[in-house]
Amino acid sequence: MRALLTKLEQASTLDRTGDRLQRAVQATLRPQRVRDLLHGVFIGHPLHPALVQVPVGSWISAAVLDLMPGQRRAATALVGLGAVSALPAAIAGLNDWAALSREQRRVGLVHAAANAVGLTLYAGSLAARLRGRHGTGRALAYLGLGAASAGAYLGGHLAYKQGAQVNQSISELHRIGEGWHPLADMANLPQRKLVTREVDDVSVILYRHGDEVTVMLERCPHQSGPLGEGDVTEIDGHACVVCPWHGSAFRLNGGEVMHGPSGNDQQILPTRVVDGVLEARLP
Ligand code: FES
Repeated sequence: MRALLTKLEQASTLDRTGDRLQRAVQATLRPQRVRDLLHGVFIGHPLHPALVQVPVGSWISAAVLDLMPGQRRAATALVGLGAVSALPAAIAGLNDWAALSREQRRVGLVHAAANAVGLTLYAGSLAARLRGRHGTGRALAYLGLGAASAGAYLGGHLAYKQGAQVNQSISELHRIGEGWHPLADMANLPQRKLVTREVDDVSVILYRHGDEVTVMLERCPHQSGPLGEGDVTEIDGHACVVCPWHGSAFRLNGGEVMHGPSGNDQQILPTRVVDGVLEARLP
């Protein structure tokens, strides 16, 4: 199975279809506010994994009820709920998928295809059940569960092996030692300009605003883009750093994500000034 997944990651034959679908998704899911909503910016976590709980839970519950006598109506209701709730989950997933790396998009394409097959089978199951053909409905639902499970397996590979929509910067904290670390003389720190420094080999950005200084991990949570090379812009009255790779924006006074594709906030380090020297430590 591992060899098969490696082949899938390297399957460049999927790229033509993937590129077309990516363009279509990016052209359809507009404006930015809609994309941010689907990325989960408003909760500071990716939305897609939360939304898929509803169809998966409904379909697994329906599979159990299908094994029990006298549960036809309840099973039919759960199959319907799963089919309806799969749509927003799929749209959020496509929105995240369109901002992934090429290798991730190849696996994501097959993940989406497996889930589309699963959804189609469940739609057929629902139609059969509503016509009173419960045997056919049950059979189609079990086939749908098989396809959706294959899709879930690939989704797990995407998240846990390939790191799709997982916070790419937070593991940097493990490389920072305990205690306060000197970073810069306040006298030499410019106002409202990004400055890059290192804490125990971990790159951080400094941003001074009056006597307040933000120290933030430099690696973008989305795909490790260099925030130190990004621009500073004002969004909703807050100074934000914009990632130069895909445009995620993070508040410089708190680290909250303001625009995706990152669905994760960026980590800020606590600071203090001792004898005119700015210091930072682990949160
Ligand atoms: S790496 Fe993609 S937005 Fe920063």
